[in-house]
Amino acid sequence: MHKIYSIPLDIMQGTDDVLFDYIVNCISKFLEYIGMKGVSLPLGFTFSFPCHQNRLNEAILLKWTKGFKATGCEGEDVVCLLRDAIRRREEFDLNVVAVVNDTVGTMMSCGFEDPYCEVGLIVGTGSNACYMEEMKNVELVEGDEGRMCINMEWGSFGDNGCLDDIRTEFDVVVDENSLNAGKQRFEKMISGMYLGEIVRNILIRFTERGLLFRGRISERLKTRGIFETKFLSQIESDHLALVQVHSILQRLGLESTCDDRIIVKEVCTVIARRAGQLCGAGMAAVVDKIRENRGMDFLKITVGVDGSLYKFHPHFSSVMHETVKQLSPKCEVTFLQSEDGSGKGAALITAVACRIREAGQH
Ligand code: BGC
Repeated sequence: MHKIYSIPLDIMQGTDDVLFDYIVNCISKFLEYIGMKGVSLPLGFTFSFPCHQNRLNEAILLKWTKGFKATGCEGEDVVCLLRDAIRRREEFDLNVVAVVNDTVGTMMSCGFEDPYCEVGLIVGTGSNACYMEEMKNVELVEGDEGRMCINMEWGSFGDNGCLDDIRTEFDVVVDENSLNAGKQRFEKMISGMYLGEIVRNILIRFTERGLLFRGRISERLKTRGIFETKFLSQIESDHLALVQVHSILQRLGLESTCDDRIIVKEVCTVIARRAGQLCGAGMAAVVDKIRENRGMDFLKITVGVDGSLYKFHPHFSSVMHETVKQLSPKCEVTFLQSEDGSGKGAALITAVACRIREAGQH
């Protein structure tokens, strides 16, 4: 059973206590909903941000991403923050056994169904991937036997300037105006939180040059974040005389001609296509590395995927699949879509950790 609770903006951007009290409040509501109010249970925590992890139940938040900026969390162990909030509530005793990145949770839950699943991918508000690396290549951890899951945090690819050649002026503006300027540059080119904003900046530039809307920019179009990424999906699904495009533009205070609508749709297509290709290029590099690691001529592998852009955009996933096929011809890659996989994966890891712990006690 699962239930989704969204975190309001003021809580995302408030303080550590307020954020974690809110999360514990959601847990309490959920327990009540399933008729288990006040019980003591082991808990797996999916935490989808870059962390330094020394143990299964310890994760020091390095930097917020995706519009979060609650104070007092960066540099702290989020498991401690969660435990403190559970204590403050004095309603139940939940033992935080594991903290898991969403990519890892997704890979684990898909791996439960498909043993070939050794990669996890998220393309939603943010983007990231994880994969199984050979222990002998993991310098930070002792031992050479077996494999270990690596959370790549690929969203931060490019933060050292290596993507500068392909970043456009629009990527630069979107980055500079974000809460975490200079960070997560790859993520800002491919994920849901930013694609609408890239399109909005392009539309403004085209209008300034007199190429759109008879050169008139509406006040609403000047508002940051107003062009939602779901508009990209709606516009690209629009085949009937671009009626949707017309109505979306109208809501943004823009009177459009037929030519305007065709151009707007083309901009949306190009931006989503670029995102799919970049994501596909990243994924091709990952699967080909796994193949080379194992000294194989051909690798059959499954990628567990989740995220709103991947699931709901009409073309993103097919562009990405096609790109992976072209760039890693020596791999046969299957994409397995997960349903709330990251939560289930964290639960799975928690259950295994509990079992190992119990076995150790006997
Ligand atoms: C975070 C990752 C996360 C990804 C997808 C990124 O912003 O840094 O940890 O996996 O978003 O949710």
